[in-house]
Amino acid sequence: MQAQLTALLAQAAAELPALTTRPAFEAAKARYVGPHGALTALMKQMGALPKDQKPLVGKLINETKTQLQTLLDAALARLAAAEIAAQLGPAVDTTLPSPDAAPGTRHPLTLVRDELASILRKAGFVIADGPEVETEYYCFDALNTPADHPARDAQDTFYLPADVRFGNVAKKSSGERYLLRTHTSSVQIRTMLKGPPPIRIIAPGRVYRRDTVDATHSANFHQIEGLYVDKNVTVRDLKALLDYIFASLLGADTKVRFRPHYFGYTEPSFEVDLSARHLPKVNKEWVEICGCGMVDPLVFSGVGYDPDVWSGYAFGIGLERLAMMLYGIDDIRYFYQNDLRFLKQFA
Ligand code: DAH
Repeated sequence: MQAQLTALLAQAAAELPALTTRPAFEAAKARYVGPHGALTALMKQMGALPKDQKPLVGKLINETKTQLQTLLDAALARLAAAEIAAQLGPAVDTTLPSPDAAPGTRHPLTLVRDELASILRKAGFVIADGPEVETEYYCFDALNTPADHPARDAQDTFYLPADVRFGNVAKKSSGERYLLRTHTSSVQIRTMLKGPPPIRIIAPGRVYRRDTVDATHSANFHQIEGLYVDKNVTVRDLKALLDYIFASLLGADTKVRFRPHYFGYTEPSFEVDLSARHLPKVNKEWVEICGCGMVDPLVFSGVGYDPDVWSGYAFGIGLERLAMMLYGIDDIRYFYQNDLRFLKQFA
């Protein structure tokens, strides 16, 4: 009897931990401890035993029963846990950041800016930077745009109050007026004052004008400024660079036209028009996109460069207009409205 009980327990200890389904568990439970199970059958044999053996065998049967129950409980708990795990799916590490359900896309202005920067990088240009809150000196005076020039008219620009503070820092007591920069050309001066030529920089950034907003005008927009200073730089170099960058960005069929113009900081100066009729939604022959010219000797003198030694060109490209041509956007206001229906088209 004792050997049978031990064998029964060994069999249960081998079988029960391997069960994988509830029906298999129920069937096994019935076989071991059910009314028609093995343990019940052994208990029934007790009656036939000699009287003096009964207490010992009874004790063994009880122990076996307890151990069987322990094995059954463990098997059931394991099955229940597996069922819950199956419902929950794969293990989740709750300490990890949740996956971003809606990763953003790049803004079309960022796309054009980065594309233009990478085209210009191939021609050796590096990025330079300057502040959006600028002094009149960098924005105008140093760019040979004197105080009576219309570009400095308080009507056209955003001047800051005289006692403006930047964070906790009061503005320098130079008596200079601060304004939101009207163009990125101020970065030309900041760059040249940092060191001697040769210089080959671009400065992408936001600029501010007092413009009435409509489909093609915005009070703030973006430019990419370019400045190249070296020996024997000519208008041909300037035209070749602009031909190269616009063909790279908009396609080989793009035409670039120079029109004479006036800027205080370049001589001669030009406005640049693009013709890109191959682009799907361009319906104007020429679109004005850029101002440029050969750096005025007065600007060089102002930053301590000898104008008899150094020459250079500069340009300022309007990014919005370029992006509108490239992507066929017909209203500048779309760029600033954060409408996902618009922005998602550039994913
Ligand atoms: N700063 C001019 C504007 O905002 C564009 C420009 C013209 C930039 C001539 C230049 C330049 O660097 O040489 O309209």
